[in-house]
Amino acid sequence: MSSPSSLLATPRAFVAWSLAHGLQRRFLHRAATRGDRMARLATDPAYYDDPYPSYDEIRAEGRIVRNGLVAGTVDHAVANAILRSDDFGTGNGQGELPAPLRRLHQLVRDPDTLSPVDPPSMLVVDPPVHTRYRHLVSRAFTARKVGRMADRVEEVAERLLDDLEREPTFDLVGRYAALLPVAVIADILGVPEDERDQVLGWGNHAATTLDPGLSWAQYQEASAALKEMHAWFAMHLERLRRAPGDDLLSQVLQDPEAADLTEQELHAIGLLVLGAGFETTVNLIGNAVALLDAHPDQRAWLQDNPDGWANAVEEVLRFDAPVQLTMRASYRDTEVAGERVAANEAVLVYLGGANRDPAVFTDPDRFDVRRANAADHVGFSAGVHFCLGASLARLEATVALRALYGRYPDLRVVGRPERRTTRVLRGWERLPVSTLARVPALDTP
Ligand code: HEM
Repeated sequence: MSSPSSLLATPRAFVAWSLAHGLQRRFLHRAATRGDRMARLATDPAYYDDPYPSYDEIRAEGRIVRNGLVAGTVDHAVANAILRSDDFGTGNGQGELPAPLRRLHQLVRDPDTLSPVDPPSMLVVDPPVHTRYRHLVSRAFTARKVGRMADRVEEVAERLLDDLEREPTFDLVGRYAALLPVAVIADILGVPEDERDQVLGWGNHAATTLDPGLSWAQYQEASAALKEMHAWFAMHLERLRRAPGDDLLSQVLQDPEAADLTEQELHAIGLLVLGAGFETTVNLIGNAVALLDAHPDQRAWLQDNPDGWANAVEEVLRFDAPVQLTMRASYRDTEVAGERVAANEAVLVYLGGANRDPAVFTDPDRFDVRRANAADHVGFSAGVHFCLGASLARLEATVALRALYGRYPDLRVVGRPERRTTRVLRGWERLPVSTLARVPALDTP
């Protein structure tokens, strides 16, 4: 019997993979062998496991560096200027391809496996189309509406912690950091309780598609998961059409302004919000716990000064950004923050690198939950694509951490944490923790 992924191994899918990943993969591997820093960051775990030394090297080389395929920047002012400039667009997520190949990719791409970085996803379309999609969903994420979710977020956090009461050691990511955001976003999108685990599984695969230069096997696996996700979403939309709830999707479906959205546009909006809603926040919570474990004095300070949690979350976003990079393509010859960029250049904007820019952050490699300007990070990007869920993510992380350390003041990371292998998204796959005051196996020499 064929596996779901082998069903997707058609010549058309192979052409789509070659354009979106294959060509880039060849270039990246060759460039990495030559020692190109951006290519090494994209391909070699020895570099992307800890990208920060490479960002310093890129910074020393220039405010914008180039490797023949793409340009890149770790400069805070340049990053901000590019993200906010009308001279740049998203390049439909494929700024590194010449325009005719981009168009060819859109023609051959299987519409049933579209990912968050394929148009018509809001993330990779430009105004005015982007403005329309964004307007439709942004109403659900206003500061006031998010503020009203605080009680629900707290209730979910406390319930998850109740479930862990009898377990002195557990995987913080699998049992807490991943479950909280998925429960919250599933509420927002009206996903029934018993379908959430399945959605979480697909989301993990979909997250891979953000990375550059996937292998053919990785691409097929991700496409298979996306196909299942699209089929489930079609069923979910049908269910909400028949019996609308008070969730965001039901709202969009009933909105007269959304009446002429195609089924594909609806999928793109819903699946992006769903994926972006949990695939990133899980990393923020996990990264925070790992950093606070490495800085027990700062954790103790927060436990005595709970008002400091909000700024601590900003510092985690700055110090170890859950989304490390994005890309923009220039429409025309232009100048950003004094740097020239030619028309049709693709620029990798390393958000995680810009967040360590010493021109903005004093002693940038020091983690400091009391840093006065921590919130000047670009961890949520900037400009028209500034993260739509930023206030929700901030709320979730603040509540999650305060509740976690409130319940388990002695929580410690134990055993061997494992990093996620994704490169755009940065976080932990497994973070084993103990809630005991003393961890015998580790305390004894
Ligand atoms: C720690 C958590 C999060 C981080 C670090 C994060 C980061 C980002 C970044 C960097 C972008 C823009 C990428 C670009 O400029 O190309 C973005 C966009 C977006 N995020 Fe988030 N995000 C987080 C949580 C969330 C949540 C909880 C939601 C939804 C509930 C969400 C929904 C979105 C959406 C819909 C966009 C696309 C906005 C647009 O293109 O206009 N994000 N996010």
